[in-house]
Amino acid sequence: MTPPPEWLRPEDHVVLDRVTKSFGRVEVLKGIDIRFKRHQTAVLIGGSGAGKTTLLRLLIGLDKATSGCVWVDGEDITPLGEVAMNRVRKKFGMVFQYAALLDSLTVLDNVAFPLREHRKDMSEKQVRDKVVTMLEDLGLLNKEKYMPSELSGGQRKRVGLARALMLQPEVLVYDEPTSGLDPHTSRLVDDLIEETRDRFNVTSVVISHDMTSCFRIAHQAYLLIDGKVAAAGTPEQLASGEHEASRAFIAASGIHPASIQRIVQG
Ligand SMILES: Nc1ncnc2c1ncn2[C@@H]1O[C@H](COP(=O)(O)OP(=O)(O)OP(=O)(O)O)[C@@H](O)[C@H]1O
Ligand SMILES: [Mg+2]
Repeated sequence: MTPPPEWLRPEDHVVLDRVTKSFGRVEVLKGIDIRFKRHQTAVLIGGSGAGKTTLLRLLIGLDKATSGCVWVDGEDITPLGEVAMNRVRKKFGMVFQYAALLDSLTVLDNVAFPLREHRKDMSEKQVRDKVVTMLEDLGLLNKEKYMPSELSGGQRKRVGLARALMLQPEVLVYDEPTSGLDPHTSRLVDDLIEETRDRFNVTSVVISHDMTSCFRIAHQAYLLIDGKVAAAGTPEQLASGEHEASRAFIAASGIHPASIQRIVQG
């Protein structure tokens, strides 16, 4: 096992350390350094094909880096085999784009899915109680018998979030959580991401095309261009800072830098 480098701090929850990823001869990630801090929200922005989803898959252990290290709680996960990786993957909860619910299952069965897979020790009643409590916590009272098609887009996101929270992850990863939602519902999802971080004490990593959302929830934002971190810092730093690339990206999104403010401070 590689000993953790001396610069790694206890508040560094997940760290990408000189990470590259190639598919065949094409290098998609070209040396990424990012420290995801405990209990903070990091937002990754960038155009289509920049490598955001690829980076996310390395982060949660769905794929292996070609070179470099991925430190999770001080452990480099890149050399781990399948059994050890399954242990690491349990630290992550994933909220997929469009919630990715199973259409033929009720809300209850969708949310119960991870428990039935991984918590064979729990009785059916314990599973049901845990699911119903979580749904209530997320504002989905009496929705457990509904089918996904009977829910609104925002409600479906919350069901996806409930499912991701079932195994009590330390890190919640969201791929494009507000895509396909109207501006009002998008803001509700932003609030939900912040509330969830606070209530469940998780670290949040959010991939987004939505600059308004990025500015509202990010402690740290990272602009990915062509497999590299082109700019990093607080949203305010990205908007007003020295990086031409991020100023251009923000200007293209139609946001005025002066309107930038986080919804929750601290
Ligand atoms: N399994 C794979 N095999 C080959 N190339 C891949 C694979 N996965 C991703 N790529 C390539 O890596 C590049 C980055 O893809 P990625 O999905 O990470 O982009 P993205 O930033 O998430 O884009 P989007 O915003 O459109 O979702 C693309 O050029 C893509 O073709
Ligand atoms: Mg993607």
